[in-house]
Amino acid sequence: MKAIGVTEFGGPDALTVIELPEPHPGPGEARIKVAAAAVNPTDTVVRSGARGTGDRQPPYIPGMDAAGVIDEVGEGSKWQVGDEVMAIALPYGEHQGAYVEYLVGDDASMARIPANTDIITAAALPMNALTATQILEKLGLRPGQTLAVTGAAGTLGNYLVQLAKHAGLVVIADAADKDRQLVESLGPDHIVPRGDDVASHIRRIAPDGVDGLADAALQRDQAAPAIREDGAMAIVRAWDGRPGRGIDLHQAGVFDEYRSGEKLDRIRALAEDGVLTPRVAATLPSGQAPGAHRRLEAGGVRGRILLTFP
Ligand SMILES: NC(=O)c1ccc[n+]([C@@H]2O[C@H](COP(=O)([O-])OP(=O)(O)OC[C@H]3O[C@@H](n4cnc5c(N)ncnc54)[C@H](OP(=O)(O)O)[C@@H]3O)[C@@H](O)[C@H]2O)c1
Repeated sequence: MKAIGVTEFGGPDALTVIELPEPHPGPGEARIKVAAAAVNPTDTVVRSGARGTGDRQPPYIPGMDAAGVIDEVGEGSKWQVGDEVMAIALPYGEHQGAYVEYLVGDDASMARIPANTDIITAAALPMNALTATQILEKLGLRPGQTLAVTGAAGTLGNYLVQLAKHAGLVVIADAADKDRQLVESLGPDHIVPRGDDVASHIRRIAPDGVDGLADAALQRDQAAPAIREDGAMAIVRAWDGRPGRGIDLHQAGVFDEYRSGEKLDRIRALAEDGVLTPRVAATLPSGQAPGAHRRLEAGGVRGRILLTFP
């Protein structure tokens, strides 16, 4: 089968078409004929080799989100040939990443696509909506408490704001002027200017500090002063620093959600109810993966770039 990946780490042009043996599902697994895979920031890390690869040998195939149609099922699988599903994939897991024609995955790594969402767009949902769900679980805020979200215009930020509002939190989201309308459409209670001084802008709205902060913009010690004493902070990449002042620090780890099929199905239902709205920046044939990575790394992409596999 055709996959897009790297045999040697490098820049966007290191991504090439790679022939891999066609995979077949084992017990409790199913195979997706992939319609689309999303391009996420973490894919650029897999491509460049900036993070360890565990025991895995090349080629390395990025991609943590896919949507498509089940075309083969393993023994005892709950899925049926023809089911339209979305899935999370782990580039360094038992199977490879999602930039592939055929993705084999555990039954529980998949859920039906939302009824109101086309099969390409559905690829923008699983990984980041699971991450946002996990972050809110870890922060453990109660309805009426206040959550600040940095990077609210990004895909993870979008889902964080929408899910937090749905959970009854008071949400303060950051936005650049050019992203204000987009962020407003997510329904936060307050919008503050994004940037290095985001914490002081948040403090103007919440003088005692917010109960929790989800740092999707990786602002870390710039953002942490927005949090009240003994509050909570969620980070999405490793950070050597600490927020101090009794603040609980939670590290998001979506790898742990690989078998969270029930959560993924709740995400499906929330998308059907209009709580979560997947956003697509562009849909490109998979051969244009280098251009997609270049565009993502340049910044300013709003919505996910999706790679299609014919
Ligand atoms: N640990 C996990 O399990 C996990 C899971 C999912 C995602 N993540 C990580 O979460 C982060 C967000 O993911 P994403 O998909 O939402 O990325 P994204 O769509 O690129 O969004 C990131 C947002 O943050 C903004 N931003 C970047 N630097 C900023 C700064 N200094 N000040 C204010 N805003 C800034 C970006 O704006 P510009 O585009 O204008 O730069 C963009 O709007 C990524 O680092 C990703 O790898 C981690």
